[in-house]
Amino acid sequence: MSETDMLEENKITMWSEEKIHDFRATLLQWYDENKRDLPWRQTDDPYYIWVSEIMLQQTQVDTVIPYYERFIETLPTIEALAYAPEAILLKLWEGLGYYSRVRNMKVAAIQIMELHDGEFPTSHKEVLNLKGIGPYTAGAVTSIAFNQVYPAVDGNVMRVLSRLFEIDLDISKASTRKVFEEMIRRLIDPDRPGDFNQALMDLGATICTPKNYSPEKSPVRDFNASYVNETWANYPVKKKKIKVKEQTFFTIVIKNEKNEYLFRKRSSKGVLAGMLTPIMLNRDDLKDSEWKAFNQEEFNQHRSSQEIEEMLRENYELIVSLNDQPKGILTHVFSHLKWEMIVFEADLIADQSHSAELKWIHPNRFEEEMFPMPTQKVNNLIKTLTLF
Ligand code: ADE
Repeated sequence: MSETDMLEENKITMWSEEKIHDFRATLLQWYDENKRDLPWRQTDDPYYIWVSEIMLQQTQVDTVIPYYERFIETLPTIEALAYAPEAILLKLWEGLGYYSRVRNMKVAAIQIMELHDGEFPTSHKEVLNLKGIGPYTAGAVTSIAFNQVYPAVDGNVMRVLSRLFEIDLDISKASTRKVFEEMIRRLIDPDRPGDFNQALMDLGATICTPKNYSPEKSPVRDFNASYVNETWANYPVKKKKIKVKEQTFFTIVIKNEKNEYLFRKRSSKGVLAGMLTPIMLNRDDLKDSEWKAFNQEEFNQHRSSQEIEEMLRENYELIVSLNDQPKGILTHVFSHLKWEMIVFEADLIADQSHSAELKWIHPNRFEEEMFPMPTQKVNNLIKTLTLF
């Protein structure tokens, strides 16, 4: 389908060439005067830009900055990344979540070493062939690092365009991004594609925000159909509510006589694959007992510790004495999953497990370990309670 067809089919009327020209000039002037001073904007090294773009898919700019700096300091080249031990990668990514992203980066770095002599490829098609790089990242890296004319459409950019053009397409549908990409191909400044893409990202992050949006403050308000028509509250359209599955875990913080705490390395598949968490018992796996109904309201009610102790013995060959007064309830939200962690403390009586999955760690050594965010939350809770 040609570009015009796709826009026509979706009843999107593109601006005149003159208006597009004015829009580019206005947006880029605003960007030149207001762009955020970000460390990955001090370089045109595609490796560094790639690292920043992958991190920025996880979280906000302010959070990413220290992670980015540590990452490129520790692994300053593609070669260093290709040879980096997994433990180092996970430590560098600790707390960012989605650890498969950094694992994929290592695979892509190996691809670059093997197929491109260690030089980040400049062809958009070859960039797209790298593990973990999709249309957004390929467009961002090639436009920013190599000044190539490719769109980089993320959620920010879709929000900006939805409001500018009053677009009724559902931005939670995968097919919608293609329409926005076609629009960007028309709008993008061919002389400054990387700056144009980043200007839209900055606009989306600082002014054209999801909440508390004040369209009158936008440098491109005069181009904004939803501002002129006062319809901006309707955009972007986002129909699909992602169903979040909720799970409740009895999270057992077990301490031995050396004041070490027990962690379990999770299986290599699934959520937080291969990461350390305390032992977590899914409430749904408990037999029909009063624990099953445990909820926030019953938080302070005293309960028998017997069933949990039995499960620990049966599943892990650990004999413990459980303090059945819960220490707190923590939550952690992944993209499609919400964990409720009801935290208990227990003292080890005997460890008969000899399981390679289980690892005792003293708090003095926590710094050296790579703990995913839910584990860090548990550790912080226990730390505030016991001052270890
Ligand atoms: N979000 C994702 N990529 C970005 C970039 N290059 N600049 C600012 N925000 C971003």
